[in-house]
Amino acid sequence: MTPVALITGAGGLIGSYLVRAAATAAPEWTVYGLSHRDLDLTDAQAVRRTFKTLQPTLVIHCAAISKTTQCQQDPALARRVNVDATACLADLAHDIPLIFFSSDLVFDGTQGHYVETDPVSPISIYGETKVAAERRVLANPRHTVLRTSLTAGRSPTGDRSFVEETRRALEAGQTLTLFTDEYRCPIPASATARAVWEVAQLNRPGVYHLAGAERLSRWEIGRLLSAVRPELHPQINAGSVTHFQGGPRAADASLNSAKIQALLSFPLPRFSEWACDPDNHEL
Ligand SMILES: NC(=O)c1ccc[n+]([C@@H]2O[C@H](COP(=O)([O-])OP(=O)(O)OC[C@H]3O[C@@H](n4cnc5c(N)ncnc54)[C@H](OP(=O)(O)O)[C@@H]3O)[C@@H](O)[C@H]2O)c1
Repeated sequence: MTPVALITGAGGLIGSYLVRAAATAAPEWTVYGLSHRDLDLTDAQAVRRTFKTLQPTLVIHCAAISKTTQCQQDPALARRVNVDATACLADLAHDIPLIFFSSDLVFDGTQGHYVETDPVSPISIYGETKVAAERRVLANPRHTVLRTSLTAGRSPTGDRSFVEETRRALEAGQTLTLFTDEYRCPIPASATARAVWEVAQLNRPGVYHLAGAERLSRWEIGRLLSAVRPELHPQINAGSVTHFQGGPRAADASLNSAKIQALLSFPLPRFSEWACDPDNHEL
């Protein structure tokens, strides 16, 4: 029987990479990548109908309200999409594997270098919705939670990855203030997609951290991007997260990805090497 993967969020950053990567990483799979336009995941009846029609043997769930500011502004929507729609998918996928994308922001960022067994401690609505969705997903021992970090790459809409956001701001002539004391482990979406297809085919459910091999501050990330794209005449100031006036921010949400690394056939990339690679056309 041909395995059938249903990928949600296919119109977004990570989902679009997963759909494209399938041709080489999972050539024997039939892959249905569904965007928001194809299926509104908050419409439970439509989701049930889609399951019945496509009969997936695997679900990779990437769709989400993925911006923390949007979640803070509209917590009800964030819960409907990030929690309720995930629960609906997990119920429908009760007897097949499901891979759910969660986030480094399930942690409060006071510790850093988080491993999978560290207690979660979200400080934002986005983080809270991811924790609630993780609980629903992990109630089923067939299911997997992948917590990832800042993801680089080119999204179909051109406005999803932090690289795209930074480039847009610089192109608009903005001066950016980037924090020297806020850390993440950025990862290119191409590496994420490759890792997910490998994990999917190993079928080893559980919680995994899937992030880049290098812990960098926002300021260091900005400096790297500036060095690679000098034609944007980057204006970047160093700031501190302690002076931030907006919503809650996790200072050090860096992830330890050793558990998933042990399963993978390739090393998770260091962001600086990826960004400075002259053959990289994804910046
Ligand atoms: N990218 C990162 O840096 C990062 C970091 C940590 C965790 N994650 C997690 O990884 C997953 C994938 O992230 P991403 O960067 O690919 O996000 P993304 O580019 O924002 O893609 C998410 C997709 O979900 C869709 N969506 C939203 N509401 C929907 C609904 N009701 N029904 C169907 N589709 C809906 C969005 O479509 P519309 O835009 O058309 O509404 C969007 O295309 C998410 O769970 C995210 O929280 C991402």
